[in-house]
Amino acid sequence: MSNYHIKHLEEYFQVYRKSVRNPEAFWEEIAEEHFVWRKKWNNVLSWDFTKPEIKWFEGAKLNITENCIDRHLPTRGTKTAIIFEPNNPDEEAEHITYFQLHERVSRMANVLKDHGVNKGDRVCIYLPMIPELAIAVLACARIGAIHSVVFAGFSSNALSTRINDSDCKLVITSDGSYRGNKTIDLKGIVDKALEECPGVKNVLVAKRINTKIDMKAGRDKWLQPLLDEAYADCVAEIMDAEDPLFILYTSGSTGKPKGMVHTTGGYMVYTAYTFKNVFQYREDDVYWCTADIGWITGHSYIVYGPLANGATTLMFEGIPSYPDSGRFWEVIEKHKVNQFYTAPTAIRALAKENLSFVEKHDLSSLKVLGSVGEPINEEAWHWYNNNVGKKQSPIVDTWWQTETGGIMITPIPYVTPTTPTYATLPFIGIQPALMDEEGNEIKGNQVEGRLCIKFPWPAIARTIWGDHHRYRDTYFTAFKNNYFTGDGALRDAVGYYRITGRVDDVIIVSGHNLGTAPIEDAINEHPAVAESAIVGFPHDVKGNALYGYVILKETGETRDRDNLRKEINQQITEHIGPIAKLDKIQFVSGLPKTRSGKIMRRILRKIASNDISNLGDTSTLLNPEVVQEIIDNAL
Ligand code: WTA
Repeated sequence: MSNYHIKHLEEYFQVYRKSVRNPEAFWEEIAEEHFVWRKKWNNVLSWDFTKPEIKWFEGAKLNITENCIDRHLPTRGTKTAIIFEPNNPDEEAEHITYFQLHERVSRMANVLKDHGVNKGDRVCIYLPMIPELAIAVLACARIGAIHSVVFAGFSSNALSTRINDSDCKLVITSDGSYRGNKTIDLKGIVDKALEECPGVKNVLVAKRINTKIDMKAGRDKWLQPLLDEAYADCVAEIMDAEDPLFILYTSGSTGKPKGMVHTTGGYMVYTAYTFKNVFQYREDDVYWCTADIGWITGHSYIVYGPLANGATTLMFEGIPSYPDSGRFWEVIEKHKVNQFYTAPTAIRALAKENLSFVEKHDLSSLKVLGSVGEPINEEAWHWYNNNVGKKQSPIVDTWWQTETGGIMITPIPYVTPTTPTYATLPFIGIQPALMDEEGNEIKGNQVEGRLCIKFPWPAIARTIWGDHHRYRDTYFTAFKNNYFTGDGALRDAVGYYRITGRVDDVIIVSGHNLGTAPIEDAINEHPAVAESAIVGFPHDVKGNALYGYVILKETGETRDRDNLRKEINQQITEHIGPIAKLDKIQFVSGLPKTRSGKIMRRILRKIASNDISNLGDTSTLLNPEVVQEIIDNAL
């Protein structure tokens, strides 16, 4: 029997040892016992990190949608696969059963086929968080088309770059989207983008906001009538385990976005196995991940991982602050959510609001809380733990990346004892290593270094679309025979990992390496501070000095600024040491953020260095307007 479901700490250690002693035997057992294959593999794993080339389950044949849908039909056909919670709480939620999902995916797949989409073709999906998004993703997988989902908050510029990079021939979008009390003209954005995309032959348009839009004759079609006419069954295309399943773009430290390519077999096995364990999902649980399917978190942990386990996964169209800041908690109560997975940025935003928003909802269904995307600071961790989990639900601080496909370092709830701000232990099969600047592995505990992974895991991205050299250079050259994550981490006395932030954000002050995340943690613990970001700027004596951008809570707004600056530096001195004190502290109303909530430090660095001539493209920011304000008040 394989160890598909880990239930206690000794078992974790035992299975972990097994998974690293003989990874091939371990993953073979998991793959064999828990998934349906049309044909078994000839070889479990072949790999060479220098090329780099990684192949899992080579020779195997499968279709991932048979694993996510068809195989559940005999036992879970009437079970809800997807709960759709609309933006407007007065609009009725939709419950899509596995039977219905099968039919809707089949119809969509047939519509794609009717429009000339074949195995291996790229399809761009630019949709809001409505059921059609998940269905379109699965429909592509059904026929072997490679989906490239672009988050429907990206600008037309960003969209056309992505469409052209992977040569998509068809786009699926909607007439518009709801975002709180606003609507967004998605079709207009697509039309603008497509002026630059001659390769796109068809646009299929879902109706969501019922607004009047332009339909370009010969190119654009309403989706629903086509779905209504399509045949309700679609034979699954038989894919090789190493056939690409999707492309997902992630921003690089410089230049154009990287189209990370994930393949079919290994990705399926790893996302399913991590989902089961990291969320301790049990039959009949309701699981909710608040990410957008436009990000890797949504791909792996709204769609593929949950559905491969026959789970009920909730899709939320709206935002945490609409109609008020209690919306997340209201949805948890309404659908009796058992596992809730969100991002620290959302937690911090909601923690600023009155506690009554949380307290008036019954959150007793919760069993597991998750965090992803950035380091979670202590204050946010405790707020989440105390007020949402009522100290009853373990917090899984899950570290991973678009490139890793699935969760890599994480507690297993009710198994791994948690520590605030620590992602704790490597997941089964994951072999992390900390490296020094010379490229040597730092062994032992209570050490800090650059986080690498020594051995392939099934869901690692296989290449960057159209640019294998960039893939090699970005991830496999800095540390020989290792995958380099770009993150720094420390390993404490008991072997727990704490992610200290991007190594590209490390600032060397007077010869000392300082991670931005711990400094920001320290600042954020000041009672008047809501959020902060630290960057380095050139300094005559120290090499670099630190510049802090600080957002105050409402309660801090009336306080004397110079006193606050002193207190913040005192706070840093206490938490880290005087070396980490800030030379400049600018109070700001917001920080420039990407759509996924990450602070655009590149921009802040430039402003801090008084080099605003070339800020680059700020159009993909969530809040481009804040940039000017920061420039105007720069110190
Ligand atoms: C950061 C998101 C600390 C990290 C799944 C990583 C985290 C980058 C955590 C990947 C975490 C993600 N603690 N940092 N729990 N999770 N990160 O590709 O810097 O959007 O390299 O994938 O986010 O972001 P991406």
